[in-house]
Amino acid sequence: MTDAEPMLHLDSRPGLPDEIAVLRARYPRTDWPRHPNYGELAAFWRRVHDSLRREGEVLAAMTADFRAGHLRAAEFQQRFMPQLAHHLQHLDGHHRIEDDHYFPLFRRLDRRFERGFDLLENDHDVIHDDLRRVAASGRALMQELARGADAGQRAADRYADDAERLLHVLDRHLIDEEDLVIPAMLEHGERPLTR
Ligand SMILES: [Fe+2]
Ligand SMILES: [Fe+2]
Repeated sequence: MTDAEPMLHLDSRPGLPDEIAVLRARYPRTDWPRHPNYGELAAFWRRVHDSLRREGEVLAAMTADFRAGHLRAAEFQQRFMPQLAHHLQHLDGHHRIEDDHYFPLFRRLDRRFERGFDLLENDHDVIHDDLRRVAASGRALMQELARGADAGQRAADRYADDAERLLHVLDRHLIDEEDLVIPAMLEHGERPLTR
């Protein structure tokens, strides 16, 4: 794996340039589902991404409710950690399958994809660091809540900052990944990816 190209780091890039998303212009997002090569794998990939987005948003809303005093500490404590653990495991598992299985297949499909998949793999490393930070600040939040309301609120502030950053980088990554993988499936069909 190469280091991220500085201009294209996940923290700050506004999207992928055309020379990396080489097929994006040929396959506009709004036309994807109507394309004859749009199959089960493409639909499944997008459903997984949508569920990751939704899980992150549900956690953010729950945390905001707790910080605003709309959700009691006891109820928050009960619901928060299982949902956070599920979300982070889901995200980590999804990235592992992409890194170990699918990305090597995409690279073999078309040599022009090389730079894009280097970038996506680097994104996974960035996101993994954020994921670990969010897991740690989530655990700290649960511990601090046991010490009292003030300590709990301060820990919730720290957790919310970390979680917001994760949500931001994840959102960028998911959109950019879709801009690479879905047009690639439409161009080459899904068969080379499902063998
Ligand atoms: Fe990914
Ligand atoms: Fe993905």
